[in-house]
Amino acid sequence: MTNRVALAFSGGLDTTVCVPLLEEEYGYDEVIGVTVDVGQPEAEFEEAAETAAALDLEHHVVDAKAAFAEACLDAVKANATYQGYPLGTALARPIIAKAILEVAEAEGCDALAHGCTGKGNDQLRFEAVWRGTDKEVIAPVRELGLTREWEIEYADDRDLPVEGGNEGDWSIDTNLWSRSVEGADLEDPSYVPPEGIYEWTEKPGEETTLVEIEFDEGLPVAVDGEALEPVELIELLNEIGGAHGVGRTDMMEDRMLGLKVRENYEHPAATILLVAHEGLEQLVLTAEERRFKSTIDDEWAQKGYEGLVFHPLMDALNAFVDATQERVTGTVTVKLEGGQARAVGRESASAVYSEAAASFDTESVGDIAQDDATGVAKYHGFQARLANTVAADEEEDEANDESEPLVTDGGED
Ligand code: ARG
Repeated sequence: MTNRVALAFSGGLDTTVCVPLLEEEYGYDEVIGVTVDVGQPEAEFEEAAETAAALDLEHHVVDAKAAFAEACLDAVKANATYQGYPLGTALARPIIAKAILEVAEAEGCDALAHGCTGKGNDQLRFEAVWRGTDKEVIAPVRELGLTREWEIEYADDRDLPVEGGNEGDWSIDTNLWSRSVEGADLEDPSYVPPEGIYEWTEKPGEETTLVEIEFDEGLPVAVDGEALEPVELIELLNEIGGAHGVGRTDMMEDRMLGLKVRENYEHPAATILLVAHEGLEQLVLTAEERRFKSTIDDEWAQKGYEGLVFHPLMDALNAFVDATQERVTGTVTVKLEGGQARAVGRESASAVYSEAAASFDTESVGDIAQDDATGVAKYHGFQARLANTVAADEEEDEANDESEPLVTDGGED
């Protein structure tokens, strides 16, 4: 019987060297390369196809853009960012892993392989989906302790079809939701990146634009009055936001294994949608809902970062998020200016807002008059005042104890 292994294949250096290694070092008869489309640029598919052809590799391309776009919009409902990063790579990995597993099952593969190193997050995200299936999981780069230098030499020796690497030798990961640039000179946290690392975003200029986002139960459904499917909606906002330099993040990121890494991201659509969504929640959710939801949102982002989107906790978090989103329907106007996106207008039929109540120009609201607040004001801070009074009394007692001579000092007995 032939042994077959399905490899997550991009046509880059790591996954290219994995092809002969899976045969030679792991004894597989056949390797199948799987490239999953989560919105990478066209050139990446061309590179994958060309490299696969040169390697004589059976190559499958799976379109998972729609599923990925949905996952991104679920993240918007949870206002999800990890330390400021809107999770593009993180949310894509479980979808890629699942698509590869499906190909492996259809093609009768016994094993699944990826080209991730032992230092990053992606190995954990892939394997979280793959382990627990009946397939063997193989990570040649990690298991054989490969370095980039070794891979380049190996590829050279065997005449493997690898290109010189990315521009500036940065490691780049692009999908619908974000473009990440890391490595090489960017590894020095003090190094100020040149404009050249950016591809999606223009250098922010003087120009200002308003963009109107319509939400239905927490999901963005239209831009400037035009109804759009998730993929198109995200693509359009990447363009509009990118033209205004919106959505650049330069950060130190705490990876799952504890290593800090310097990351640069571009994510115009994510920034606009997150700003708009939060702007709408400010209008339609109660203060208590918003405060509690922010802890749920943080946990959602953490699990999203870890790639544990199938965790039962995630189902529970999603149930809460969805319950809160029933009223998150309305329209938000976002201003794009100087590389920033700000919510500058919002309207909703579910607004928890009374202009009459909040206005400086009215005296009473229904049967509540302004001076009804006097009683509330008297009680406000009651416990804090009491606690401080008790503490002050104790201090005074102690001070008195120290200054007064002890009674026994009188030498009376
Ligand atoms: N640090 C990010 C994450 O773990 C993105 C990594 C992207 N990879 C890359 N080679 N640029 O989600």
